Amino acid sequence: MNPNETPILTIEDLVVKFNLRGRTLSAIREASLCLYKGESLAIVGESGSGKSVFTKSFMGLLDANGWVDSGTIKYKDYDLATFKSEKDWLKIRGKEIAMVFQDPMTSLNPLKTIGKQVREAVVKHQGLKGNEATKAVYEILENVGIDEPQKRYKQYPFEFSGGMRQRVVIAIAVACNPEILICDEPTTALDVTIQAQIMELIGALQRKYQLTVVYITHDLGVVAHVADRVAVMYAGDIVEIGLSEEIFYDPRHPYTSALLASLPQLGIKGEPLYAIKGTPPNLFKKVEGDAFAFRNEKALKIDFVERPPYFKISETHYAKTWLMDARAPKVERPKTIELLRERSAK
Ligand SMILES: Nc1ncnc2c1ncn2[C@@H]1O[C@H](COP(=O)(O)OP(=O)(O)O)[C@@H](O)[C@H]1O
Ligand SMILES: [Mg+2]
Repeated sequence: MNPNETPILTIEDLVVKFNLRGRTLSAIREASLCLYKGESLAIVGESGSGKSVFTKSFMGLLDANGWVDSGTIKYKDYDLATFKSEKDWLKIRGKEIAMVFQDPMTSLNPLKTIGKQVREAVVKHQGLKGNEATKAVYEILENVGIDEPQKRYKQYPFEFSGGMRQRVVIAIAVACNPEILICDEPTTALDVTIQAQIMELIGALQRKYQLTVVYITHDLGVVAHVADRVAVMYAGDIVEIGLSEEIFYDPRHPYTSALLASLPQLGIKGEPLYAIKGTPPNLFKKVEGDAFAFRNEKALKIDFVERPPYFKISETHYAKTWLMDARAPKVERPKTIELLRERSAK
């Protein structure tokens, strides 16, 4: 999608399934994505759309009842979709691709001091020992905005606030020198002011270490200012992808427009906030046509029958919707999107 660059990670037609009480659910349905070195990409979509499952499949972190059914995940010389053993994944996890989760306590050991946990990453991935390792830990803690690192080194996770714990998790992830940092709803559990600080910290570390960052969020508003590109996920597929401004000001898939229209920041004074009607399709069954058709008032006949391909809007912008087909009737842009465009033009 950025023809001048080679992607660092290329996912093609990925299918991920889960077995649940004898029945099979398709959580990811032939999703494709290219990730470019040094970019920040946001994956947005409602809860349950497959954001976590999609990215966990790049790290061998799928739950035991899940598997990659088909498709490829190319990273360097590997096809991660063929990885089976923990031994394979240890080459990738942390070192090449690292992940920060919503709840920092899932990544931190409550029984070990913060210093010890950061130190383990420093010893293992930077090969430092003794005093040098200790000094590196102090520096890393300061780097992520933790004051009094000498004192903090000796404290346990419970002595840290949620925001500070997330800073430590990010510090550990970055200390492993990964190429790609995946942040799965890193600020969802934190209050708004802390949210902004954590996003800022990730951005600063990205620039400093030239990381490739994937932000996962259900809230488009959080990533508006930090992501170069946005991928919109719906029912296990990426239905639209483009530069941030293309997604925000020129959305083409009706689901993307609906997501934008339901942003609280974009509410129109005096009118109730828009909410997307209906529920996503049942993934235990095969989805026919456009998975969003049943929730789309303007759906065409073909939307219920045939799955749309990607239509190209620009070199960087693609959307999987029949509305982009030359034969489709013209649909007016929702009012909120027009408002966004007007505001941005000022
Ligand atoms: N271990 C599991 N067993 C069965 N279904 C699962 C499992 N993990 C995830 N899923 C299903 O996969 C879909 C995508 O989930 P997830 O990736 O967690 O969504 P998101 O991160 O976008 O909120 C959901 O329908 C969810 O119920
Ligand atoms: Mg999730």
